[in-house]
Amino acid sequence: MTTEIIDKNELHKMDPVFGQLSFDNHEQIVFCNDKDTGLKAIIGIHNTVLGPSLGGTRMWNYSSEWEALNDVLRLSRGMTYKSAITGLNLGGGKAVIIGDSKKDKSPELILKFGEFVNSLGGKYITAEDVGTTTEDMDLMHTVTAHVTGLSEAKGGKGNPSPITAHGVYMGMKAAAKHAFGSDMLDGKVIYVQGIGHVGEVLVEKITKEGAKVFISDINKDRLEEIRDKYGVKIYEGDNLYAEKMDIYAPCALGATLNDTTIPEMNTKVIAGAANNQLAEEKKHGKMLRDKGIVYAPDFLINAGGIINVYAELENYDREEIMRKTDNIYNTTLEILKHADRDGLTSLQAAMNMAQARIDARKNEK
Ligand SMILES: NC(=O)c1ccc[n+]([C@@H]2O[C@H](COP(=O)([O-])OP(=O)(O)OC[C@H]3O[C@@H](n4cnc5c(N)ncnc54)[C@H](O)[C@@H]3O)[C@@H](O)[C@H]2O)c1
Repeated sequence: MTTEIIDKNELHKMDPVFGQLSFDNHEQIVFCNDKDTGLKAIIGIHNTVLGPSLGGTRMWNYSSEWEALNDVLRLSRGMTYKSAITGLNLGGGKAVIIGDSKKDKSPELILKFGEFVNSLGGKYITAEDVGTTTEDMDLMHTVTAHVTGLSEAKGGKGNPSPITAHGVYMGMKAAAKHAFGSDMLDGKVIYVQGIGHVGEVLVEKITKEGAKVFISDINKDRLEEIRDKYGVKIYEGDNLYAEKMDIYAPCALGATLNDTTIPEMNTKVIAGAANNQLAEEKKHGKMLRDKGIVYAPDFLINAGGIINVYAELENYDREEIMRKTDNIYNTTLEILKHADRDGLTSLQAAMNMAQARIDARKNEK
């Protein structure tokens, strides 16, 4: 999430693993292969200073092994920072299974992958991600204890999306406080791009608070459903980025903050759920800062999902989940202040704070 999205043509120019563009002193990278089920997977363990590495398993039809490796390196590193900034005692890890989840996934393949996870003895704990489901996690749980994101019937904490949306809402309010001097969202013009599992709950919350909400999505039926349910407006134009607004909430795709969109932008705050919102974190973080746009770091404000999953490991209840998620407000505010004070982008300030926590723990050991 926090490293650059890299042009795939650049990947093969580097050494295959330790010289890769996204390699960042990862502790362990495990290549998993099983002839009978067709499983080809990579588990990336970036850092375990704060605790066992945790992150979802993504099943994706990568166009090359380079791309799969790059993704697991990038995503596992991102998990280290996400957990560290959120105050969880977890390290960063992630896994990718190479293949089309609709065509290539079978119970046997998932079980075999679960055995590989188990062989790491808890150093890596998995969860669901794009291309894997709660049912897959329940199935893996029959061969390994090192899996989270289980169904409620199997002792899990259920759908994380409402918790993620709550964290995004808290981060948005903190960013509003920083930008406008008040965290009240009533009367604010907010564009929510992507009204899926997270976007819908966010729309519900900000509408209740009296914001003037515009929604956009590629799914027309969904747009009409959400418009009718919450009385919000569908954005009908063809360039959302250039619209005058108070807050832009990207809740669909990554990399929407880029060379093309940032110069056009007419917003004061960006706060949304999507991962990897900055196409290039340093360059585009700075472009936002130079334009005076307050950016709430994505990996901080969308951490509700991992807080929910962490509850399964630590066995804490919903009240504690909500307390930790509410705290995203304080952390966001603190980071935005630090960034201004030190002349940094908010993303860099967040990374520094996460790294400081990891370094402090390392020194204690
Ligand atoms: N669900 C979680 O708990 C969670 C946690 C952390 C981060 N995230 C991130 O938040 C984002 C939203 O997650 P979600 O669970 O709501 O996903 P989702 O798949 O339920 O919803 C995504 C929505 O975006 C829409 N969309 C896709 N492309 C679009 C485009 N070009 N323009 C406008 N809309 C488009 C889709 O039609 C869909 O309605 C994703 O980037 C996800 O990685 C989610």
